[in-house]
Order: sequence, then structure tokens, then C-alpha cells
Amino acid sequence: MKARNRVAIIHVSVSLFLLSFSIYAQQILVPPYIQPGNASALNREQKVLIWQTDSIPGDFKVEYIATLPKQKVSVAKTSSVKLNLLNKTTFLYRANFTGLKFDTEYSYKVFQQSEILAEGTFNTRTKKNQTKFAVFGDCGAGTPQQAEIAWQVSQQKPQFVLVTGDNVYRSGLENEYRKNFFPYYTSSEANPTKGAPLMQSTPFYMLVGNHDVYGADFNKTPDGLAYFYYNDLPLNGPSIKLTVTATGNDDLVKAFKSNTGSRFPKMSNFSFDYGNVHIACLDANPYANPLDATLVQWLREDMNNSKADWKIVSYHHPGFNSSKAHYDYQQMRLLSPILEQLGVDLVLTGHVHNYQRTLPLKFEPKVDPTGTQYVVSDEGRVDGKFTLDEQFDGVNNTKPKGIIYIVTGAGGAPLYDTSLSGKPDLWKHAPQENWVPYTTKIVSDIHSFTMIETNGKKLNLKQLDAKGAVFDEITITK
Ligand SMILES: [Fe+2]
Repeated sequence: MKARNRVAIIHVSVSLFLLSFSIYAQQILVPPYIQPGNASALNREQKVLIWQTDSIPGDFKVEYIATLPKQKVSVAKTSSVKLNLLNKTTFLYRANFTGLKFDTEYSYKVFQQSEILAEGTFNTRTKKNQTKFAVFGDCGAGTPQQAEIAWQVSQQKPQFVLVTGDNVYRSGLENEYRKNFFPYYTSSEANPTKGAPLMQSTPFYMLVGNHDVYGADFNKTPDGLAYFYYNDLPLNGPSIKLTVTATGNDDLVKAFKSNTGSRFPKMSNFSFDYGNVHIACLDANPYANPLDATLVQWLREDMNNSKADWKIVSYHHPGFNSSKAHYDYQQMRLLSPILEQLGVDLVLTGHVHNYQRTLPLKFEPKVDPTGTQYVVSDEGRVDGKFTLDEQFDGVNNTKPKGIIYIVTGAGGAPLYDTSLSGKPDLWKHAPQENWVPYTTKIVSDIHSFTMIETNGKKLNLKQLDAKGAVFDEITITK
């Protein structure tokens, strides 16, 4: 990938008596990066290239071609929106790659006039019964560890990256993405101090965390909710009322809705297939209700319609967490019985800035005396009955009885409860809080990320540190 930070177009016009010389320059604020686009099932493929420039309108052309013999060059349909944020005008461009074949490498070139602004390659989704992807959350904090993890993720060559929310700190703002997110994952240099040019070739599927929606009041943060600008994800989620609400100055809200189109708020919940894996990504913020009838109906249909070998659900706020941090927020436990019915294998979360893995478990939330309502305490705790599969070890016994819940929130932000690593006695919470030893592994003193590889009926999960060393590994089989 080559990207130039400044494109100069020199117009020279010569007349008999006059030489006029003018220079128009555009600063590239975010270099072109690949996004999954609105493609969910493995019946239609799409990718989108997004980039951002300063206030000078550009005239871009994007070409793409499959790296197979005798292919024709296609020209992507390109559009732009003018963002007037923080009293600064920028342009955000989108180029749509359509008519793509699955399991194929494509190369692309972004032209400004005859100049090549950027070029790269990407792979379309695989239809094979295998996949390999990276997962981490809580990352865009502008730390040296974020760069190390970004670089190490690129070394693993994932087909895609799943970011479990809190993509950027502190409030999901446009200027925070440009400072704390893109420089690490679109770095032109690939090394542990800078990050890597990951997003130029690898699509990121990102979830909505709590920090991603802190900037929803445009009177305070006119460049908030930038998640909905910068992502282009499947729009196959349910139309539910319980989503983030953009507030503040009417003109700012109107401009935001116009610039994000159907992506806001639809992109808060979505699902997609990749190889033999189906992943549903849910918004778990406090305004959401995991038992919302529309959401649950959609999730049931979504999972039941999937023929994938592996069913995964991802949301930001973990229901099962043995850290001190965020222990009380357990609302996502309410969804567990439904996930068990739907045959979900794995739940991937973030929010807590460390790594945790549970035993395979089944959970029945406690109901109130009328027997009709689950009980959620004022603090957000959800007690209930646990059934733990203590026989599963992921090595000799690889057939779990229950769902394995992962917290992988150590992608870059400062870590939580760093004293917990390897000390199960410290993971206990008071008995009256319905504590049971569902957590079997915590590593809280190093930054890390998850690599998941599937091959037919076998799924392998590894947790790696910034140097690439594996410190936890399980295999699940069917
Ligand atoms: Fe969070």
C-alpha cells in the first residue's frame, strides 16, 4: 500500500503573453481503507473503500480488478459527503466495489486525476468451511500498546478483524478516530511502535461500545457518533427503537442523519457470514434491552437461518465477568437462555480491559415471585442458576456443554485489575452476589488479542500477547 499525504495537481496554462501557474492541494486526513459493506449472507459480496480529505473537493476515480487472468478493470461508483464538524469542513468519500466474486483477491487503485493516491489489495469473503480472524476491543486510546497489538495482529494475517466496541476513546468523536484510531491501523509503516497498514486490506467489523456513543449530544460534541460515519457494515439488523439517540442542535442532528443515511442507527445490530462462521453483533448499551421482542425475534430468525458450522454472538458489555471493574453490569446475562436454545457456541465481548474465559456454561436467570419477570438488581446484577461444564478443558475434552464467554478487552486502552492474573482467589465475589466460579482464566496484566481459526467442525481459539506468544488456547469440536 502506498499513500501520499498530499496530492498536488499542477495546472499550467500558457498563452502568448501569460504563464499562469496554480496549485490545488488536498490533505488526506484518513487514507483509503476497506470496509465490509452491506453484505451479510454468503449470497452477495461487497466491499467499500472509505477515505477522508480536507475541505478541498476532490475528483477521485477508483479502479479495481480481480487478480485472476483475463479480468476486466471495473470502476467503483464513488460518492462523498461534506462534513461540517467542529467548524471545520472535510470530505468523506466512499467507493463501492460491487459484482465481486467470493474467495478472490482484488487489487484497487485510487486516482486523483492521473496520479495514484493509494493502491492496495483485499480478499473477498470465503465460502470455504474455514476462516481465521482476530478479535479485540477497547483499543483506540492512542497508547504504545495499541500500536504493538495492531502490528502483531497484522503479523497473524487474519481474514478480518472483529472489534468488540470502545473502538476509540474517549467519546467516539471524529477527531478522536483521526488521532487515536486510524494512525495505528492504517499506518504506512509496519512495526510495533507505529502499528500496521491493516485496514487498507483487512475489513474491520466494529461494534458499538459505551464510549462510542458518549458523544451523542451534538451541542457538546458536534463530531460525535463518528462510528456511523466511518463504518460501512451489513444493514440486515432489526429496526428497533432502543438505540442511541442523537440530540442537540436540530441542524446538527439533521446534517448527521443526512450524512449517515440508513447506517444510523441500523448499524448498531447486524450479522454476517464468513466461511463457516456466523456472527451476530449486538448493541449492549444500557439503553438497549437484550430481551426486546423485535431484537429477539430477529436474532432467532438470524441464527436459525444460518447453516454455518459455528455460531458466535458478540456484544460489548460482558454478562459473565470476574474482574472488579464493571462486575455489576450483568444485563446481557438475560439473553443467555435464548443463545443456548439457538446453539450459540461462543460469545465475544470487551468493556473490561483484560482477558477472561469462562467454562462452558448454561445460565437460568432468577425470576420474580410472580414467575414472569427476570430479576435485575438496581446495580444491574442478574442472579440465577449456573450449570458449569467442568470437564471441558479444550485439549482432551473438546466438546463443551454450554456457551464459552470470552472477554477480550485488552486491545490498547489501560488495563483493569492487573493483579488478577493467575490468582483465582481474587476472582471471587461475595456469596450473596450469587458468585460461582464460572471463570477459568484471567490474564489482566498484559495487552492481548484473540485469534480464532475454524476448519470444518473444529474451532481453535488462542489468546496472544503483543509479541505473538500464545498464553491461552482451547479447541472446540462438534
Ligand atoms: Fe466499554
